[in-house]
Amino acid sequence: ATSTVALSGCDSPPERTTDPEPDRGLRFPDGFAWGAATSAYQIEGAAKEDGRGESVWDTFSHTPGRIRNGDTGDVAADHYHRYAQDLDLMRDLGLRSYRFSISWPRIQADGSGRPNQRGLDFYRRLVDGLHERDIAPMATLFHWDLPQALQDAGGWENRDTAERFAEYADAVFRALGDRVPVWLTINEPKTVVQNGYIWGHHAPGIRDEDAAYLVAHHLQLAHGLAVQALRASGLSGRIGPALNLHPCYPADDSTESAAATRLHDGYENRLYLDSIFKGAYPQDVLDDLGPDSRMVSGVRDGDLKIISSPVDLLAVQYYTPIYVTGDGGTVRKWPTSEAEWQQIYPEGMYDILTRVTRDYGRVPITITENGLPCPDVPGPDGTVDDAGRVTFLRDHFAAAHRAVGDGVPLESYHVWSLLDNFEWAEGYEQRWGLVYVDYASQRRVLKRSAHWYRDVIRRNGL
Ligand code: NOJ
Repeated sequence: ATSTVALSGCDSPPERTTDPEPDRGLRFPDGFAWGAATSAYQIEGAAKEDGRGESVWDTFSHTPGRIRNGDTGDVAADHYHRYAQDLDLMRDLGLRSYRFSISWPRIQADGSGRPNQRGLDFYRRLVDGLHERDIAPMATLFHWDLPQALQDAGGWENRDTAERFAEYADAVFRALGDRVPVWLTINEPKTVVQNGYIWGHHAPGIRDEDAAYLVAHHLQLAHGLAVQALRASGLSGRIGPALNLHPCYPADDSTESAAATRLHDGYENRLYLDSIFKGAYPQDVLDDLGPDSRMVSGVRDGDLKIISSPVDLLAVQYYTPIYVTGDGGTVRKWPTSEAEWQQIYPEGMYDILTRVTRDYGRVPITITENGLPCPDVPGPDGTVDDAGRVTFLRDHFAAAHRAVGDGVPLESYHVWSLLDNFEWAEGYEQRWGLVYVDYASQRRVLKRSAHWYRDVIRRNGL
């Protein structure tokens, strides 16, 4: 088995002490859109304002013992009030694209019925502010903050939630569709399945594998119904899924590891990709779940047709590879970051991008997340020297550049994240931002990586 290397990517010595770094001559295609990403619950705060209802993450974060240090998203980075300043930061960085998410409970406090105009107005102001600064909005419809009322009615185990999601999506399309060119449906369905329903360390905190895969199916169904709703609206926006993909490699060269890796890949990647791009769930996963599983018995005639409604793009989120042993376990092979699940392996970016293009055709790809948590602390002069993040991003950009050179139709890249924010069960301790947030004062400080990224954007490459 491969041994664990307990090295943090952030501790690696800076390879340079001055920015900008020398020009490597790696240019991205003209019009390539450099961006950054966030999500509503992680940055907005204003949890009780303007008619916002409660989500499963309000419930979860207010349940003692669930979140590190007892943190909640009640205030977060206070973006709901400071969005104009944050828009200026984006402009200063030179972002061409900004990926954010819309909070369902701001639009429908209880997850159904007439949309709340004050909630829609906030996103209208945000989107208008992006256009004023020449930044393309990219909106995620669901980044995990399910209205609590829908959870009380069964949440994603209840097929009806997928129908509710399509209605919510339709309301958002009608209100913002003229100003949002790209929509993403469900953020990382797999994380809801695994963290929310298998391991239980994300909302709703359930540990029930049988329920988990039914949830997967309903999330996929919700995705497909939202795609259909956009088409039915007559709007011209583009839409696609946002999938966290994990390249899976055998931990050794035994035949057992090879077989286990194939099945692992089924659960990590093909379950989501095949259903959308091939109109079928992978047979090995279905066989493994068994005919009596709630998922397999929950798939109805016509569902896969809905799920595989043609999309305009695929959003890929890449953080880490997975190494699978013969018994189906996993091991680490590369240095890990502050997030114990993340091994730093830039080649994985190349592998996953070329693989999806090979296996699923030339659908346009956007990277909607990639990033590194670092123990960022302002120095005596107030600057934040996150050299490890610069190295990480540079190496991943270079890997993406190589994939583009090999024919991957990559059109944009969004760093996770614009700002330090509420990292779910890890609370505020893990910092993922290009921009440091001093939560006590809500002051923003551009980290070294932000200054460096500005140069990358300016020269459209490395
Ligand atoms: C994936 C999620 O979409 C995002 O919300 C999270 O903060 C990052 N990964 C980092 O873990």
